[in-house]
Amino acid sequence: MSKVSFPIPPHHYEATIEDGLLGRAGAVLKEVLPGHTRYFVLTVPPVRKAWGPALMSSLSGVGLEAEMIEMPDGESHKTLTTVEHLARKLVKAGADRHSALVAFGGGVVGDVGGMVAAIYMRGIDYVQVPTTLLAQVDAALGGKTGVNLREGKNLVGRFHQPRSVLIDPSVLATLPEREFRSGLYEALKCGIVGNPGVFERLETQRDPILRRDPAALEWMITECVKLKAAIVTADTEEGGPRRMLNFGHTIGHALEAETSYRQFLHGEAVAWGMVAAAMIAAALQKTDSDTARRIISTVLALAPLPKVDLRGKRVFRRLKADKKRVNGSVPFVLPRQIGEAEIVSEVPDGAVIQAIEELRYLSQA
Ligand SMILES: NC(=O)c1ccc[n+]([C@@H]2O[C@H](COP(=O)([O-])OP(=O)(O)OC[C@H]3O[C@@H](n4cnc5c(N)ncnc54)[C@H](O)[C@@H]3O)[C@@H](O)[C@H]2O)c1
Ligand SMILES: [Zn+2]
Repeated sequence: MSKVSFPIPPHHYEATIEDGLLGRAGAVLKEVLPGHTRYFVLTVPPVRKAWGPALMSSLSGVGLEAEMIEMPDGESHKTLTTVEHLARKLVKAGADRHSALVAFGGGVVGDVGGMVAAIYMRGIDYVQVPTTLLAQVDAALGGKTGVNLREGKNLVGRFHQPRSVLIDPSVLATLPEREFRSGLYEALKCGIVGNPGVFERLETQRDPILRRDPAALEWMITECVKLKAAIVTADTEEGGPRRMLNFGHTIGHALEAETSYRQFLHGEAVAWGMVAAAMIAAALQKTDSDTARRIISTVLALAPLPKVDLRGKRVFRRLKADKKRVNGSVPFVLPRQIGEAEIVSEVPDGAVIQAIEELRYLSQA
């Protein structure tokens, strides 16, 4: 079992990572949030079916009153409409300012649940119980909540820190393979920008992780949570260090948007984005060619990626329109060496377009 603290105002909180933690969730919550006796567990059908009974009996087992509320599954339901429906369900169920919400699912449930908790009766406490690898290493940590608009992703939201994050790697056993791999790319990203140990494990000893061996997962997730805690604590509302976690995301987001979010899972798009960023870093001599080669081959060794079938210029135009642009130039997170990255704001357009063209070429290989 590992605990990682997030000393972020207004409350310090901890992430607990432990195989089988779901069975102890009630006991942990009773200890961490002694003032709460009534919980509303927000989830989606696949998670309810696989793990709902385990969580609910763990809560009721220690005398906590808990009710499940459901939202439909999928990114397309990460909307204000869903937030409104859920808030109304809470009113009908009699939730008051002293009730607490449990976001029990992947990043979508975490973002929507966090948003509901941020604004329901001007804010109630909530805890994250993430059930996808992506949510366990990233989305459930750091207090970013929000929903999408038709105009774009995550355009409406709040920072609202959870009171506790309970991570049980054993729930990943039921995660579809593609979702699991998609989360692995985010873990690999943590390795590249801040934890050489995680990178090396995925480079040379990845089999236990790919087999979802609980001990191997617990170790890797804990390392990623520690990195996120360090970064988020230094920078709770997205200034400098937090931007390191955007490694692979500049081109990744452009690929997702250009394919209308249908061709790539988020982590897969980020995987291609990391490959491109490694190429750009090598071309600009921000890193040596061996480091770039190790990054690229480790990304590509995790799983076959959906093909990139887009012209570099088209993706580049999309990327320029990205909200993160500063004075017209798009800042890139580029690797310096394994475990260390930097933000580079003057990347020549040609280097970016060239790297995206290389992704097309690699896709055909
Ligand atoms: N707040 C943040 O800091 C942050 C960071 C990164 C990503 N995100 C957000 O996270 C979202 C993506 O999250 P995601 O990848 O977890 O997707 P997701 O929440 O849609 O989950 C993926 C699929 O897996 C299913 N699932 C979840 N847990 C399962 C389990 N244990 N067994 C079987 N099936 C399971 C879900 O029902 C869903 O169908 C995006 O909306 C993204 O914007 C937020
Ligand atoms: Zn991401």
